Amino acid sequence: MDKIRVIGGNPLKGCVEISGAKNAALPAMAASLLSAEAIHLENIPYVRDILTTRRLLQEMGAEAEVLEDGTATLKALDIRSREAPYELVKTMRASILVLGPLVARFKKARVSLPGGCAIGARPVNLHLMGLEKMGATCDVVHGYVEASTEGLRGANILMDTVTVTGTENLMMAATLAEGETILDNAACEPEVSDLAGLLRSMGGRIEGDGTRTIRIQGVKELHGCRHRVIPDRIEAGTFAVAAAITRGDVEVRNCCPQHLAAVLSQLTQAGAEITTEANSFRVRGKDPIRSKNVTTHPYPAFPTDMQAQYMALMTQGDGSAVVTETIFENRFMHALEMIRMGADITIDGRQALVKGGKLLTGAKVLASDLRASASLILAALVAQGETWIDRVYHLDRGYCQIERKLASIGANIERVS
Ligand code: UD1
Repeated sequence: MDKIRVIGGNPLKGCVEISGAKNAALPAMAASLLSAEAIHLENIPYVRDILTTRRLLQEMGAEAEVLEDGTATLKALDIRSREAPYELVKTMRASILVLGPLVARFKKARVSLPGGCAIGARPVNLHLMGLEKMGATCDVVHGYVEASTEGLRGANILMDTVTVTGTENLMMAATLAEGETILDNAACEPEVSDLAGLLRSMGGRIEGDGTRTIRIQGVKELHGCRHRVIPDRIEAGTFAVAAAITRGDVEVRNCCPQHLAAVLSQLTQAGAEITTEANSFRVRGKDPIRSKNVTTHPYPAFPTDMQAQYMALMTQGDGSAVVTETIFENRFMHALEMIRMGADITIDGRQALVKGGKLLTGAKVLASDLRASASLILAALVAQGETWIDRVYHLDRGYCQIERKLASIGANIERVS
């Protein structure tokens, strides 16, 4: 199994290009199941979760080509299986995104129920509640959600928790339902709007994406189209922290700074100097790094997917910072590894008290999930000596060549097979 070796101490300097957003690409690929015509996607990151989704679509009978240049062509003409097997769903919870499209177009689906994962329970009750409101029957049998319908009908659906993939699943299903669906307390994440844009290009009638209320008028069928997915705001945010924590000077290109407003504002409060252009920003890390509290919330607030990376930064702060995680109940696994590197972090339920100013020292650490892996690399970039990060398959699920990109701006990092 691959490991990542980092020798800390180098300030990062230079430019880095951001890849397409994994969390926008995954629903876009699932949306291809809504049409018999070809969907051409651009800016698809060549990462593990994308290749897992390709396999999932292929096993259902779809034509699915994903190339390293970021293009993908998907055509769901002959779908012989309406099933997402456990073997694939267990490695990637976002497989649940095929449920809405399959039920809407084929009136039947069998999708393995995703279990919990390292960061929490992660139920899908709201996905199922919404489909049932639209006239589907959803039963859990042998670990699978078995959903069927005579035909979906529009419905008023209020989700009591903001759920990103839940909103996406129901929005996709509603495009082919009869009549109007109103999704209330919907997720406003840019990835939801990106999917809405794709669905509109396929002939879907959707309004209000990017707000808490999304209205969808069902249509009889959807057609093929071409769509470019948005840049990955979490990858961009990770490089922003890399610049700040190493007191470097990095230009992050091919991204959408607007999608990162809360992250960039937080890093500015923590002392970094940040200038933004339309499609890029530049981060100059400064001394001292200021300890500032942060709380995660749904978009447009500070994202849970940046919490671990920000915690790495706070280990180098000039005082104490409280990091509060409100989205997932068990998302501090990285803290335990950072403590092994010398960080002073105390966890109390959903809060972590991070006392800054500690010298981190390289150690052997284990990545527990995707963003945790990135945060350990960030900590390693300022640690004294050598850090070995194990279980980097988590990293490969969602970051496109992160070690090459970091090396290109001066990090001493390599992948060892
Ligand atoms: C998505 C992102 C993930 C990000 C998360 C929160 C993708 C592929 N993944 O995950 O990177 O960390 O949003 O921004 O886009 N919940 C329920 N019932 C449900 C669904 C969710 O109670 O049916 C709860 C979850 O347990 C969690 C909260 O809602 O506490 C938010 O989860 P959700 O937005 O659904 O996360 P994902 O869509 O799985």
